[in-house]
Amino acid sequence: MAEFHEVSPNAPAGEKLLNWVDNRFPLSKLFKEHMSEYYAPKNFNFWYIFGSLSLLVLVIQIVTGIFLVMHYKPDAALAFGSVEYIMRDVPWGWLIRYMHSTGASAFFVVVYLHMFRGLMYGSYRKPRELIWLFGCGIFLALMAEAFMGYLLPWGQMSYWGAQVIVNLFAAVPFVGPDLALLIRGDFVVGDATLNRFFSFHVIAVPLLLLGLVVAHIIALHEVGSNNP
Ligand code: HEM
Repeated sequence: MAEFHEVSPNAPAGEKLLNWVDNRFPLSKLFKEHMSEYYAPKNFNFWYIFGSLSLLVLVIQIVTGIFLVMHYKPDAALAFGSVEYIMRDVPWGWLIRYMHSTGASAFFVVVYLHMFRGLMYGSYRKPRELIWLFGCGIFLALMAEAFMGYLLPWGQMSYWGAQVIVNLFAAVPFVGPDLALLIRGDFVVGDATLNRFFSFHVIAVPLLLLGLVVAHIIALHEVGSNNP
């Protein structure tokens, strides 16, 4: 256990409070290590902005997603109508939905540029292999997240998109057809599919993504950034 640190009884209230917290939780330590005293190369260029931009888009997706879920109905009979309702009747609903759907595309643009930088400068090499591997996990989770979100408006494009991609899994040798059935939850893309995709899109995959992003940043801060 770290030693207990005392401040003068005459110290300002803010300092006393921070000291109280710091004796119980490494707040100043974390802030110093990851923000105020985190050393970064001074020759960063344009390509280094895409990591922070990915983080920004992730936050936008989560915030707009929270508001969409307030009005969306994950039910084969109601989903399409609830999206129409968001577009026409919910105040600013059209903006929230377009931010979320355009944000999904922006996410890939920004992440591809981020990965391109990594390839260009060899950022995947020692000692940054784990940063890259966590990144690969993030990329896979992101593809799953976008695919399952695309089914939710329950329109023609959603339906046939799901039909095609789920059937891709049926091409896996031996277990393919069973795998496709497991993903679909039924013999056709239907209500069961919509409900499980909703559950994965809204909670399971975002949790996984957040965990991977935290691991990505911790691994980065352990070794520091590469530079051009
Ligand atoms: C939600 C997605 C992601 C977020 C929020 C994110 C965030 C970040 C941030 C903030 C940095 C530091 C700033 C920078 O170097 O740009 C970084 C560095 C890095 N990221 Fe990501 N990242 C994501 C996805 C990925 C993916 C998909 C890969 C590769 C498969 C990747 C590989 C790397 C590497 C190798 C570095 C170290 C770069 C260097 O120091 O040269 N990241 N990431």
